[in-house]
Amino acid sequence: MLLLPLLLLAVIVPGGENEDAFQGPTSYRSIQTFTIANGTWAQYKVSGWLDDFQIHGWDNDSGKAIFLKPWSKGNFSNEELIELEDLFQAYFIGLTKELQDYVSKVQTEYPFVIQCIGGCELHSGKSIGSFLRGALGGLDFASFKNHSCAPAPEGGSRAQQFCAFASQYKGIQGIIETLLSDTCPRFLLGVLDAGKAELQRQVKPEAWLSSDPSPGPGRLLLVCHVSGFYPKPVWVMWMRGEQKQSGTRQGDTVPNADGTWYLRVTLDVTAGEETGLSCRVKHSSLGDQDIIVYWGHPTSVSLIFLAILVPSLVLLICLALRFLRRRSFQSIS
Ligand SMILES: *[C@@H]1O[C@H](CO)[C@@H](O)[C@H](O)[C@H]1NC(C)=O
Ligand SMILES: *[C@@H]1O[C@H](CO)[C@@H](O)[C@H](O)[C@H]1NC(C)=O
Ligand SMILES: *[C@@H]1O[C@H](CO)[C@@H](O)[C@H](O)[C@H]1NC(C)=O
Ligand SMILES: *[C@@H]1O[C@H](CO)[C@@H](O)[C@H](O)[C@H]1NC(C)=O
Repeated sequence: MLLLPLLLLAVIVPGGENEDAFQGPTSYRSIQTFTIANGTWAQYKVSGWLDDFQIHGWDNDSGKAIFLKPWSKGNFSNEELIELEDLFQAYFIGLTKELQDYVSKVQTEYPFVIQCIGGCELHSGKSIGSFLRGALGGLDFASFKNHSCAPAPEGGSRAQQFCAFASQYKGIQGIIETLLSDTCPRFLLGVLDAGKAELQRQVKPEAWLSSDPSPGPGRLLLVCHVSGFYPKPVWVMWMRGEQKQSGTRQGDTVPNADGTWYLRVTLDVTAGEETGLSCRVKHSSLGDQDIIVYWGHPTSVSLIFLAILVPSLVLLICLALRFLRRRSFQSIS
C-alpha cells in the first residue's frame, strides 16, 4: 500500500536559498556547417540560436534567413536584415569556394566538414562578449581572438598556415570584427527584448513519485518525476528531512512537445528505508515555495485513512443502529 503513488501527498513549503536567478537565454549564436565532398561539390547549412532555442534557419536557394518566431527579427529594420543576408550569402558562397581552392592547393583529403560557431553573450554586469570558432573534422581548428585569427593547438601546422593566409584579408577581418562587436550585441539585446514574453515565461513543474522494477533483492528504486516546467534549469533532490540524499541520480532533462521540460530523478534504497523520504523541487517559477512530495508519508497515510475510514465507520454504525432499532420496534409490536 505504501508504494501506491496515490498515497503521496504533495505540499508546497517555503524553501531556502534559490541557487540561481534565471532570466531566460543570454546568448545568440549562428552555427554554420560546410561539407566539402570534392573539388566541385559542397553544401552548407546555417541556423541561429538563443542558447538552445532555435530562432533562425537559412533558405539556401533564395539566400534568405528563415525567421522561426514572429519576434526573430529583434528590433532590426528590414533594410538592415537584407544587408546582412546579402553579406552572409556572399560569405557562404565565397568561403565555400575559397575552401575548395585552398584545399586543392594544400592537398587535404576529401571529404571534410567545417563547423563554425559565432555570436555573442551577455555576461553578468551587462557586458557583452563575442566569439567565433571553427572546427575541422570535429577538432578545434582556429578562432577569432583579439581582432585576428588564432590557430588552435589541435589544428597543428595546418591551422597556423590557415591563419597566416587569413591575415592577408584585412577587409574581411574588419567586417567580422564589426559583426561580432557591434551587430551581434545590438541584435542580441533587441531580440531578447522582442521575445521576452516567450523567453522569460515561467511555467511551474508538477511532481509525482513512482517506483521502478527493483534493482536487486531487498532494494527499491524510487523515481521522482518532474514535468511541465520552463525554463530548463531545475534543482531536484531526494531528501530525508533537511538532509540531501547523496545517492540521488539525475537523468537528462528532455523536452515535452509544448516546449516545457521533463526530468526523472531516482534513488536506490534498501527496502524499508523509504519511509520518511521526500523529493524536493526548486524552480524559478516557484519563487521560494519549493515543491516537496513525500514517499508514503506516515501522516498523509493516516490522514487519508482517517478521512476515508472515519466517515465510513460513522455511516456503518448509524446504519447498524437504525437496523437494530427497527428490529427491536418490530419485535415489540
Ligand atoms: C563529388 O561528390 C558528389 C557528392 O558526393 C558526387 O555526387 C560527385 O560525383 C563527386 N564529383 C566528383 C568529380 O568526384
Ligand atoms: C546552396 O546554394 C549554392 C549557391 O546558391 C549552391 O552552390 C549549393 O549547392 C547549395 N547547397 C545546397 C545544400 O543546396
Ligand atoms: C591584442 O593585440 C594587440 C596587438 O594587435 C596587442 O598589443 C595586445 O596585447 C593583445 N591583447 C591581448 C589580450 O592579447
Ligand atoms: C535595438 O536595441 C538595442 C538594445 O536596446 C539598441 O542598442 C539598438 O540601437 C536597437 N536598434 C538597432 C537597430 O539595433
